[in-house]
Amino acid sequence: MRKPLMAGNWKMNKTVSESVSIIKALKGTVDGVSDVEILICPAFTALYEVNNEIKGSNINLGAQNLFWEAKGAFTGEISTAMIRDAGCSYVIVGHSERRQYFGETDKTVNKKTKAALAADITPIVCVGETLKERENNVTFSVIEKQVRDGLADITLQQASLTVIAYEPVWAIGTGKTATPDQAQEVHSFIRKIYAQMYKESAEKVRILYGGSVNPGNVSDLMKKSDIDGGLVGGASLEAESFTKLVKYS
Ligand code: 13P
Repeated sequence: MRKPLMAGNWKMNKTVSESVSIIKALKGTVDGVSDVEILICPAFTALYEVNNEIKGSNINLGAQNLFWEAKGAFTGEISTAMIRDAGCSYVIVGHSERRQYFGETDKTVNKKTKAALAADITPIVCVGETLKERENNVTFSVIEKQVRDGLADITLQQASLTVIAYEPVWAIGTGKTATPDQAQEVHSFIRKIYAQMYKESAEKVRILYGGSVNPGNVSDLMKKSDIDGGLVGGASLEAESFTKLVKYS
């Protein structure tokens, strides 16, 4: 059985003190939850303090990005050792905002995925089609390429530990969620491609849905057999709404 994962991606929001204060609230409201894994991905600047705050709780910490080189002259970048040192056990890789605004490609996504896995950090590899691609009926070929190229050449064991997030670009921050059926259709397709690549690992890999997940739509999405959790932006920015997502059932 795959344990559901509810992940908050705070994107470029919250100062250190704002981050710590939401975590203080969240710790109380999600205390005792053990059937859902809880993950928060704050800005880099807040990782260290948030890590201090979550110690001994059921909240896990993730970064929103990494660079694949170990160290050196790469101004502005952050290595796997650095995010590990700051307490991260997860990292988001290839979010559509990074692909769109910062030129990330399936090739760089693959390098980052491998670097994370090599450092024992679980990558959450994001895939998703744009509105234009959906309208042009190329959703499945776009997703297949992102999965095959982004997740190429990892070991079977690494394949089962990896997390994939399906985030249709047209549903991110727009209030337009994919219907549970639309999401399930793509999730089961991703699992099928993954099975061709990594055999039985496909039954273990968790596939999260992201794109305007909120307390009103989370339980219908989570009922679908191939939806194993959420990657949540807006609704993760307050303890109250994120708690409702964690306690969706
Ligand atoms: P929203 O939940 O704000 O639509 O963002 C989704 C997302 O991009 C999470 O990574």
